Amino acid sequence: MCGIIGYYGNEDAIPILINGLKRLEYRGYDSAGIAVINGGGLNVLKQAGKVKELESSVEESTLKGSVGIAHTRWATHGEPNDLNAHPHMDETGTIVLIHNGIIENYSNLREALQKEGVTFKSDTDTEVLVQLIASFYRRDKLSFEQAVRAALQEVVGTFGIVALCKEEPDVMVAARHGSPLVLGLSDGAYFLASDASPIIEHTRNVIYLDEGEMVILNSDGYTIKQIYKNKVLSKAVTTLNMSLEEIEKGNFPHFMLKEIFDQKQTIMDTMRGRLILDEGSAHLGGLMDCLDRIENASRFYITACGTSWHAGLVGKYLIEECAHIPVHVEYASEFRYRKVIIDSDTVVIAISQSGETADTLAAIRKAKEMGALTVGICNVVGSSIARETDCGVYTRAGSEIGVASTKAFTAQLTVLSMFALKLGRRKNLSKREGINIAKSLVGIEKTIESTLDDTSNLEYIAGETVKANNFLYLGRGLNFPVALEGALKLKEISYIHAEGYPAAEMKHGPIALIDEKMPVVFIAPHDLTFGKVISNIQEVKSRRGKIIVVTDKKSKRLDKLTDYQIVVPTTHTRIFPIVASIPLQLLAYYLAVLRGCEVDQPRNLAKSVTVE
Ligand code: G6P
Repeated sequence: MCGIIGYYGNEDAIPILINGLKRLEYRGYDSAGIAVINGGGLNVLKQAGKVKELESSVEESTLKGSVGIAHTRWATHGEPNDLNAHPHMDETGTIVLIHNGIIENYSNLREALQKEGVTFKSDTDTEVLVQLIASFYRRDKLSFEQAVRAALQEVVGTFGIVALCKEEPDVMVAARHGSPLVLGLSDGAYFLASDASPIIEHTRNVIYLDEGEMVILNSDGYTIKQIYKNKVLSKAVTTLNMSLEEIEKGNFPHFMLKEIFDQKQTIMDTMRGRLILDEGSAHLGGLMDCLDRIENASRFYITACGTSWHAGLVGKYLIEECAHIPVHVEYASEFRYRKVIIDSDTVVIAISQSGETADTLAAIRKAKEMGALTVGICNVVGSSIARETDCGVYTRAGSEIGVASTKAFTAQLTVLSMFALKLGRRKNLSKREGINIAKSLVGIEKTIESTLDDTSNLEYIAGETVKANNFLYLGRGLNFPVALEGALKLKEISYIHAEGYPAAEMKHGPIALIDEKMPVVFIAPHDLTFGKVISNIQEVKSRRGKIIVVTDKKSKRLDKLTDYQIVVPTTHTRIFPIVASIPLQLLAYYLAVLRGCEVDQPRNLAKSVTVE
C-alpha cells in the first residue's frame, strides 16, 4: 500500500528519494511522485505507473533540492492517474503533502472549502487535507506547523503525512494517526518513511512515531510533539536490526523465490532457543508475563487477514487438538464490527506479518477494550500490533518483500506449533507426543531442503498446467487451510482463478466445475484421513479432472489415480502443513513466471494494507 519517504539534509535529495521509492515498491502501488524544495521554489513531478518511469521523467527535468518528499500511491479515492498521484499541492502552490491512510470526512471538508472558493484538481481525500492546511495557513495566518496541527484537528480518519511549505523552506512536518511513520536519524540528515526499508541503507537509528504524534524538522534538528496537545515528547532512539541484504534479491530473479528458499533458514530462526526438546514443549519468552491468563483462557479468538488468517486456521486445529481449548478464527474485518463474545477469560491472538494491517489493529483494540488479553504474532519488530498487544511472539522471518507472503506464513505456522505445544503440555498433550512434535520441528530443515534441492518436478507440472484458467485445491483437517493458502498464492501472483475447499465439501458445489481442463491439487499425507481423500480423488478422476497430489510417500494407489505427484518427506501430521506449503508456493511461482506475471508486485495488491 502507499509508501512515504522524506529526506531533509544537505545532499542531493533526488537520488535518495528515487531509491527510497524503489525500496517501497514492494508495498504495492499504481502511481508515484516527488516534490523538492529549492531556493524558495516548490517543484512537483508525479505520474501514474512505475517508479522507473518517474525516474526517467525526473532525469529529463530540472528538479533539484536537498529537502524533499516522495510517495507511491495505491488508489483509494480516485483512479490511478497523474492528477490523483501524490504529492498534492494546495491551489496557491504553497504547501505540498504526501499521505497514507484515508480522510473519512473529506467530502464535508471539501464542500466547506469549495464554499470558501477553493478549487480542486483531483478526486483524492489527500488534496482536501493539503487545501485545508493551506486554508489555515493563509486565512488564519498560522505558522506552517500550526496550520498542519489545526487541519489535523478537523480530520476524521487515518493518516501518515509529510508536508513541505514554500514559504518556510527549512521546515518539514510529519504526523501519524493510524498509518505508521519512522524517523531516521543520520549525521546532519533526517529521513521519514512509512517503514524502515528506505532508511536502512542510510542509518540504523530510528524513532517510531506513536499514534497522535508529529515531527517537526528544521535547521535546529527534530522535535516530536503530540499533535493534539502540542506537548513536546522525548522518545527513545531504536536501533534497526534488519540488514540491507534482507531487502535485496541477491542472485534470485524475484524476491518471492528468494524468500521461498530463505525458509530453510527462517523456520530454524523462528525456533531458535525456543523449543525444549526433552520436555516436548517450548519457551516463548514474550508470553511469560501473561502465561497465567493464557493457560486459564476459556476460549481463544484468532484474528487476522489474508495469508495470516490461513495460518490462524492451522492454529485452531493445533491448539484445539493439543490443548482442548476452543478457538474461533475470524477475519479481522468481520471481528471488528461483529458482536463477538469476549470476557476477561478470552484471549485474542492477532497474527500479522507487517503488524500494521488496519483491520487487525482495529480488532485487537476492540478486544482490549472488551477486556480480553491480546497476544500478537508479528514479523515486523516494533510494528503497531506488536506494540499494542499485551504480549506476543515475533516470527523472526526477516523482511518479507514479495507481496505474496511465503516465509512469514511458515514462520507463523512454526510459532503456532510451538504455542500449541507449550499450551498442550500444560493441559492434555502427553510428554511423548510433545517430544514427537518437537523432534519433527527440529528435523524440518532437512525436510525443506529436500523440496528445495530439486524443483524440476514442480517446474514440469507448472509447464503442463499453465494454460488452465481455474485450479481447485483440496485438503482435510490441518491441510484444509493449506489448500486455501495454496489457492490464494496462485491467484495472487498468476491471476489464475483458484479455490480452496475441504476435500469432502467439493461435492457440494465445486465438483460442477470439474472437467479435463481443471487441475485439482490434493494435499494428501498418509494420515488418518488419507483413505477419505483417496475417495475424493476418485470422484475427481471420474470426471476427468487433472490430479496433482502433494503427499509424503509414493504409493500404488496414488500412482494409479493421479497425474502428477509432489512427494515431500514424511513428518509429523501436525507439522505437515509447514512442509506441504512450500511446494505449493513454488508451483504458484513457476506458473506465474510462465505466464509472464509480475511476481513480486502483482496488480492491485498491497503488501501492507493500512486502510480498512
Ligand atoms: C495483504 C498481503 C497479504 C497478507 C495480508 C495480511 O493482503 O498482500 O500477503 O497476508 O495483507 O497482512 P499481514 O501483514 O497482517 O499479515
